[in-house]
Amino acid sequence: MTDDKAPIEVDECRTVSDDLVEAMQRLIPQLSSSSSPPNRAELEEIVASPATTLFVARHRGRIVGALTLVAFRIPTGVRTRIEDVVVDETMRGRRVGEQLSEAALETARRLGARNTDLTSRPSRQAANRLYARMGFERRESNVYRFTL
Ligand SMILES: CC(C)(COP(=O)(O)OP(=O)(O)OC[C@H]1O[C@@H](n2cnc3c(N)ncnc32)[C@H](O)[C@@H]1OP(=O)(O)O)[C@@H](O)C(=O)NCCC(=O)NCCS
Repeated sequence: MTDDKAPIEVDECRTVSDDLVEAMQRLIPQLSSSSSPPNRAELEEIVASPATTLFVARHRGRIVGALTLVAFRIPTGVRTRIEDVVVDETMRGRRVGEQLSEAALETARRLGARNTDLTSRPSRQAANRLYARMGFERRESNVYRFTL
């Protein structure tokens, strides 16, 4: 972990730059060993979609974390979810994940959502600590998946 005290800046990505493509190639393997990082065209799709907001955290201009907020309207209101939160291993423990999540919650509020959902496997200890500390509460529900 770096001791560098330079501030972390969190922004919404509106365009796909070379450094975003490079950063995703570095960050996504730190989140999932089974998903390949998005290529430029896939990142363009995320950035262009009204349903997804991609946030990145920068440290001295370098992208060191990312989070995607998903938002869509359903009959009962605006539903939002936080997905694919990852912080570069060299920058963990500096509340980068918290700053990314705060930015996502602010956008969710602005979009009219009353709450934001996320799921995190119990084995992801750092992530579960982060969300509990921020005030996310566990809900009792069955989480199902149909494999296609
Ligand atoms: C989960 C994750 C995004 C948290 O990011 P972060 O910026 O390090 O978050 P925080 O600084 O708020 O620290 C969160 C917890 O990580 C742990 N942590 C602290 N320093 C750490 C370090 N150097 N290395 C690893 N974990 C550390 C602590 O348990 C901390 O909680 P605490 O401060 O209450 O003790 C990051 O660990 C990560 O990318 N993990 C791999 C991918 C992942 O699990 N994503 C979440 C999917 S749901």
